[in-house]
Amino acid sequence: MYRKSTKKILVTGATGQIGSELTLELRHKYGGENVIAAGHRRKPGERLVSSGPFEFIDVTKKDELEKIVKEYDIDTVYHLAAMLSATGEENPQQAWNVNMGSLYNVLEIAREHGLTRVFWPSSIAVFGPEAPRVKTPQNTVLIPKTMYGVTKVAGELLCNYYFLRYGVDVRSVRYPGIISSETPPGGGTTDYAVEIFYEAIKKKRYTCFLRADTVLPMMYMPDCIKAAINLMDADASRIKCRTSYNVAAISFSPAELVAEIKKHIPEFVCEYKPDFRQKIADSWPMTIDDCVAREDWGWNPEYDLASMTRDMIEKLKKRFAEGRL
Ligand code: SER
Repeated sequence: MYRKSTKKILVTGATGQIGSELTLELRHKYGGENVIAAGHRRKPGERLVSSGPFEFIDVTKKDELEKIVKEYDIDTVYHLAAMLSATGEENPQQAWNVNMGSLYNVLEIAREHGLTRVFWPSSIAVFGPEAPRVKTPQNTVLIPKTMYGVTKVAGELLCNYYFLRYGVDVRSVRYPGIISSETPPGGGTTDYAVEIFYEAIKKKRYTCFLRADTVLPMMYMPDCIKAAINLMDADASRIKCRTSYNVAAISFSPAELVAEIKKHIPEFVCEYKPDFRQKIADSWPMTIDDCVAREDWGWNPEYDLASMTRDMIEKLKKRFAEGRL
């Protein structure tokens, strides 16, 4: 099949926590006009609109997606649009429809239009309490207790199927909680680890919805973007796992994060009022074994708890001082 030399990339969920930063990085790498950002309801930020094309689409509607793929001659999709774990528990039916419906549409379009590559994020939410919670291995029992986790396990199997049956080059990582300073996450169980920074800077107080000792796997945004781009850049022969790769970076509890923040903001006070999200967190891993991703395509994160905290506080303090927080 004829393929042009310049990549034409579509990012769905481009107004979301990961999408808003990944789109800008891809535009930097491939040129603004070659990376089409697609959002649904949330208003796109100024930089997202000024640096390249932006479209509103509903990814659960195949014709809307297909129209964009044809119009821009898309060959690569980063499909990030999804509902996260906490909002997924508030409306499981909608979570299934959005997460599975949209992935099915993307994979079908990839098959029908011979797209070159698809990236789709899975999550640590694929694991349930039956899996080992410390150094959770790549291959273990997957019995998630949230609808979000169910859609991620089903999605991983669907990706693997489209690769085996149709040769669709779809690649995936199981992201942990993502910490970032640009766009806040929405509806996740790991969101406390972002909110806490905003509140520490604005109010010097935070009420955490998880217990102080709840250890969860996390990752700073630069590593999150690096994982997606390195995986997508790797030669196909190196991608031996077509469900989804474990990727780890940092694991910590709210108490450990508070102690690290206090090194920069000594007067910071955190209270704990666990809610329904505690049960979700308790069913997830504490630490992840990512040796397969390291071995296959050279995964290697840069940020630890101290460097991530320092960078977050520096960035948010600057925005606060400029009245933009
Ligand atoms: N950050 C996600 C959530 O909490 C995990 O993939 O739902």
